This record gives sequence, C-alpha cells and structure tokens, in this order.
Amino acid sequence: MFGRVAPRYDLANRLLSANVDRYWRKRTVARVRDVLKRPEAGVLDLACGTGDLLIALEHEAGRRLIGSDFCHPMLTGAWTKLHRGRLKSMLVEADALALPFPDSSLDLITIAFGYRNLANYRAGLAEMRRVLRPGGALAILEFTQPPNKAFASVYNWYCRRVLPIVGGVISGAPEAYRYLPESVRKFPDAPELARMMTEAGFSPVDWEYLTFGIAALHVGQVGRGIRRVRPIGDWPGTP
Ligand SMILES: C[S@@+](CC[C@H](N)C(=O)[O-])C[C@H]1O[C@@H](n2cnc3c(N)ncnc32)[C@H](O)[C@@H]1O
Repeated sequence: MFGRVAPRYDLANRLLSANVDRYWRKRTVARVRDVLKRPEAGVLDLACGTGDLLIALEHEAGRRLIGSDFCHPMLTGAWTKLHRGRLKSMLVEADALALPFPDSSLDLITIAFGYRNLANYRAGLAEMRRVLRPGGALAILEFTQPPNKAFASVYNWYCRRVLPIVGGVISGAPEAYRYLPESVRKFPDAPELARMMTEAGFSPVDWEYLTFGIAALHVGQVGRGIRRVRPIGDWPGTP
C-alpha cells in the first residue's frame, strides 16, 4: 500500500493537510532540538517515508542523520530529495519492529505518522526503547482523535467521505485513504499512548495536541538510570 502511494505521497500530503503537516514537523523539530543539537547524538527518523521530517531535522542539526523505512519506493523518494538538497543523511531499509541497530546506540528517535501503522504498538515501543541510550528521547507525531466532540464529528465526516475520494484521485490508491481514518479510529487516544510509552520505560512523557487535536506530539525521555530515591542526608549514618 505504501509503495503504491509513494510517487504522489508528498503532493497528497500538501493538498489534504493544506500544508499544516509542515507546521507539525517544524514543531516536532523544535521539541527535540536539545538532543538534536548535541554534536555526537545519533538520530534516527523512523518510518521516514519520503524524508520530510528527516530533511527538517538535518537542516536543524547541520549534520548527517539516519532515516529508515521498510518501503523501498518511499526510500527512493527520500533519496531523490536528499540528493537534490545536497544533504548528507543516510537511509536504511528496515522494519521498525526489528531495527538493525545495537542496544543503547542512539540518542533520538522520531517517528511521524508511522507508529500507527505498526503491527504491534507495544513491540514497536520496546524496540525503540532498546536502541535508545540513557539520556535519549523518542518523539511520536501521529494523528489522533480530536478531543472536542463537535469538531471530531465534522473532522470524521471529512476523513470518511472526502479524504478517500480526493486522496484516491491524487495518489491513485483510494484504499490507502480509506485505511487512514480506519487506522486512526483504532489507534489509542493521546492519553493512552502516553501511558503506553510510560509502561515501555519512557519517563517523563510529555504530549500536546496539535491543530484542534487532529494530531498529537508525544515526547518521552529515557532516564539516565540514576534515581535518587531520597535525599542523601536522609540515609542512615549520613552526617
Ligand atoms: C504515512 S507514512 C509517513 C512518512 C513520513 N514519516 C512522513 O511524515 O511523511 C508512513 C510510513 O511508515 C512506514 N512504515 C509503516 N510500517 C513500518 C514498519 N513496520 N517499519 C518501517 N516503516 C514502516 C511506511 O512505509 C510509510 O513510509
């Protein structure tokens, strides 16, 4: 399905989101800037698709990052854009559920509109947690259910009735744009996703709604493994 959508994926994104997707990616870059700016930080944009977030991250970091996806035509699109922009990031063809990176080898993972598609959400979080180092962070940008019921009903109507037609005409793959609202409906809501990230070992987990709650951005930290359970002065025998 992603392979069929790939050639016109960027155009469909721009038109169907009225360019708001660019703002969502910019916001994601801003939220992870601290880790991104560490000179030695290993950064992976997971399920990078045609590379829009990867490119925004590289512009901010000013150095080579990694993008990965399991869909070859998406990576071909990303490679063309990286090449045209004379950018340095490398691309890896890999399944997000079996990443070809050692334990504790990366400092930042971002995943934009990819996490919802994983066959197993908990396994996906565990795999991301496995490759992140203490002090690292995970940012998940994903569609969600808008919290305002009135807005949600109009938005859901747009997703069910308009999106498959317009998305289908632009991309030539209407099934992909029927799948999208269905997958968002089945996806955990934003507070539940935050809970799942905490259970997977990310702490603290902060999240925010974007654009009336059409999307949500979750950022989870990987602790450094040193937890002071009580102030030093309280230990028995401490002067
Ligand atoms: C909706 S696109 C998002 C692409 C890009 N991150 C963006 O923001 O435009 C979803 C991407 O997730 C990728 N994907 C889905 N499941 C995956 C998996 N298990 N492993 C790697 N990539 C996956 C698809 O190939 C597709 O490129």
